[in-house]
Amino acid sequence: MKVIFVGAGPGDPDLLTVKAQRLLSECRICVYAGSLVSPEVVGLVPGDAELHDSAGMTLEQIEAVFVKGRQQNTDVIRLHTGDPAIYGAIREQMHALDRLGIDYEVVPGVSSFQAAAAALKTELTAPEISQTIILSRTSGRTPMPVKQELAELARTESTLCLFLSVHKLAHVARELIPYYGADCPIGVVFRASWPDEVVLRGTLADIAPKVAEAGITRTAMLIVGAALGSDREQDIPVSQLYHRHFSHGYRSADADSGADS
Ligand SMILES: C[S@@+](CC[C@H](N)C(=O)[O-])C[C@H]1O[C@@H](n2cnc3c(N)ncnc32)[C@H](O)[C@@H]1O
Repeated sequence: MKVIFVGAGPGDPDLLTVKAQRLLSECRICVYAGSLVSPEVVGLVPGDAELHDSAGMTLEQIEAVFVKGRQQNTDVIRLHTGDPAIYGAIREQMHALDRLGIDYEVVPGVSSFQAAAAALKTELTAPEISQTIILSRTSGRTPMPVKQELAELARTESTLCLFLSVHKLAHVARELIPYYGADCPIGVVFRASWPDEVVLRGTLADIAPKVAEAGITRTAMLIVGAALGSDREQDIPVSQLYHRHFSHGYRSADADSGADS
């Protein structure tokens, strides 16, 4: 028997891994994060399986379900939204399992920052503009380590994907403007890949009122950076990877590549 931490992906059941789909269809006991995991994903668990919504549970109550699984020699699926390794609060559950001597494994999932990038139809990296993606958040009840305050991250001018921060969007924009500029593009995606997904685009200067008007206060991904502005052909330095004059280990440049390069 073991506990399997499974990434539920961002919402759309088609974005589950094949392994997650199989595990859910075979599941007998499931603890799921009801505040974030989509009902459609939870619906893949067989109707006669035991379901526990962790939103209203303490760690001790979750541990009790793990122990019950061991008593019944039945695997327990611990379903976390997106990828369990990102703001999943899985560490304390793993510590408990270590203490209890119960084995566990992790099945990764598609994270919401990836689903949000897909919804925005953008590439998060752009040559000469951003070759770094930072996954972070603003401080909430969990304070930020001083060296990872938004202003510190902003100095790098990387593409920023901010979780758990949409309710502080006006503050985020104010913090970022000195580094990225007021006209820096930002995308906000509410419930990426859910049927009621909302995609908003703007600049650091104008995004907060747009999001307030849409009534979005939670479950949204913020993606900020100049890379988002390089989606129109005239704006960009693009990767040379597929350019006919560019050689690499798998392809030689056109024979006439010297002619006009
Ligand atoms: C506790 S974190 C969990 C993140 C998750 N492990 C992941 O990889 O996406 C919850 C935050 O993730 C983001 N989030 C989760 N699902 C989302 C979705 N479908 N669309 C947009 N943002 C989402 C929101 O910022 C939300 O506040």
